[in-house]
Amino acid sequence: MILPIVTHPNPILTTKTNAISLDVLKTEEVQTLIDNMIPTMYHAKGVGLAAPQIGQSKRICIIGKEAREPHAEDLVLVNPVWTKLSKKKTGDIEGCLSIPHIYGTVKRYDQILVNAQTRDGENIEFEAHGFFARVIQHEVDHLDGVLFIDKARDIFKKTD
Ligand code: NI
Repeated sequence: MILPIVTHPNPILTTKTNAISLDVLKTEEVQTLIDNMIPTMYHAKGVGLAAPQIGQSKRICIIGKEAREPHAEDLVLVNPVWTKLSKKKTGDIEGCLSIPHIYGTVKRYDQILVNAQTRDGENIEFEAHGFFARVIQHEVDHLDGVLFIDKARDIFKKTD
């Protein structure tokens, strides 16, 4: 099911989410939410989607497979945290499904180490580089109630 995307300035987008317990993660409600987040992200032509963007203040995000080539699967991250592996940050243009038509340059770490749980509650750890690392940092910011416009420079508007 495709869910409506919440847009700025809805306060849920600037509210920090709390970690999800294994018991809550395994409920049908949360599993269905995850099932719906994936087609919702694709329908909106996003490369990532965080639960607050569909009105759910839950610590879950989806990273689309196109952000992590050559992997061919979408990634569900539950309770993700990351640490930097490089001192270097690179600026690039970002947008956000919740802030339509607005773009800006955001500096992100080039390499990060991610710890999270899968939708089944299994612990995972992996390194992410480049665009993949950027998308994860953007989505984890959503889970902390932070939007890219809080960090962006050279913000501009572009209507398609
Ligand atoms: Ni976003």
